[in-house]
Amino acid sequence: MKIGVFGLGYVGLTTSACLLQRSFEVIGYEVSEEKFRSLRQGNCPLSEPGVREAIVRGLSDGGLVVARGVDRETIPDIVLICVGTPNQGDGQTDLTAVRNVLKSLQAIATECGDSFACEVVIRSTVPPGTLSTLAREFERLFQQVAVVFYPEFLREGSAMKDFFQPPQTVIGALADSPPPRNLPLMLTALGLDYEIVDSVVAEALKFGCNAFHAVKVSFANEVGRLVARLGGDGTEVMRLLTKDTDLNISAKYLLPGAPYGGSCLPKDTRAFAALARSAELELPLIGNCETSNREHVDFIVEQVMNHAPEKIVVLGIAFKRDTDDVRESPSLSIIQALAERSVKQIWIHDFLVQPEQVMGVNKRELDRLLALDGVTFSNDLNSICEAADLTILMHSDRRYQNLPASAKSTVIDVSRWLNL
Ligand SMILES: NC(=O)c1ccc[n+]([C@@H]2O[C@H](COP(=O)([O-])OP(=O)(O)OC[C@H]3O[C@@H](n4cnc5c(N)ncnc54)[C@H](O)[C@@H]3O)[C@@H](O)[C@H]2O)c1
Repeated sequence: MKIGVFGLGYVGLTTSACLLQRSFEVIGYEVSEEKFRSLRQGNCPLSEPGVREAIVRGLSDGGLVVARGVDRETIPDIVLICVGTPNQGDGQTDLTAVRNVLKSLQAIATECGDSFACEVVIRSTVPPGTLSTLAREFERLFQQVAVVFYPEFLREGSAMKDFFQPPQTVIGALADSPPPRNLPLMLTALGLDYEIVDSVVAEALKFGCNAFHAVKVSFANEVGRLVARLGGDGTEVMRLLTKDTDLNISAKYLLPGAPYGGSCLPKDTRAFAALARSAELELPLIGNCETSNREHVDFIVEQVMNHAPEKIVVLGIAFKRDTDDVRESPSLSIIQALAERSVKQIWIHDFLVQPEQVMGVNKRELDRLLALDGVTFSNDLNSICEAADLTILMHSDRRYQNLPASAKSTVIDVSRWLNL
């Protein structure tokens, strides 16, 4: 199988080196005169473990050919687009190089007609929504051949190893585009299991991974700065924190759902930020968690109000399932905001929270809520679900999974992000 690689920078040359190792024929396309000349002279213009040797060998034994652009006599079975996608001045992604490649491919596809069967695979990092935007711009190309996004997860310094053992392999495809046939064959030959997902998911996955890594680094550095200012050892704190692979380094708390609440997370995050302020330290990430959480409450309220509901049922008012603790529960903030937005009737239901049984802060919180106009507590799940025109499910309590048959209203499942 002949593979074309557009852009012979870090990603393109690593990809070419790895494909050469697995005996694919590679044609590399590069617009930089300097790099082009260097490669044509048999040199590799970058330093990355294993890459230089493989590229130099490929150039000398003919496994790798370098050209300025696709020639209609030697059209590859697949082209991998590995060109740069830098930030523009405002941070947005500059897709000029990707568009230039697609423009040249569309021109050849038009020239060759049906005989052009080269699959187009974007490996450059692009923002969510890019593939569908490009499909409108390059309609003809997208109708004729498979054009997909296959995110690259390699890291410089261990690029070849990461190419052969990526953390995951996903192909992002548009529903109405021809499906890829050669790319799956190439991945199988590389021994990679893959998953085909919606293009926006694949695009957001790549952005999400990089943002998550950036958040992790920033979080560790914020903890380190504060602990150091207090005379402690931040490295030791993070060593112990990362030893917890149940709650800390795991998939827990990493699904979109309800805002956080309860008696600990809001209080202690606030205290952490206050401690930093008093130590004259800026901790923008941890310090802004509360703002982010409040934004999420506002977002849910807006989504609910888009349905213009008059009578709402809120299922679950404790801050999470399996407890009767309502302290700083996001349900309370949401109910209060909805009451202030003049929703006529809000019924509250919770299997564990009973107004006559709760005490202390929980009682005060509940009394405050029940004093709002139109807010009522009810244990009669059947009747309130029947009467409501919207149901908000805050908890993943299994008992809420089968709502009464009488419930005809839309269910916004905050806990599982359904209808949000
Ligand atoms: N570098 C990494 O570690 C890494 C990892 C994963 C993903 N990515 C993504 O991969 C993409 C490429 O990154 P990189 O670090 O290899 O970039 P790079 O700048 O090293 O290489 C890009 C190359 O593309 C060439 N190019 C531009 N337009 C071209 C065209 N029309 N035809 C042929 N060549 C063209 C440039 O001259 C350059 O040599 C980016 O979107 C980046 O975000 C990078």
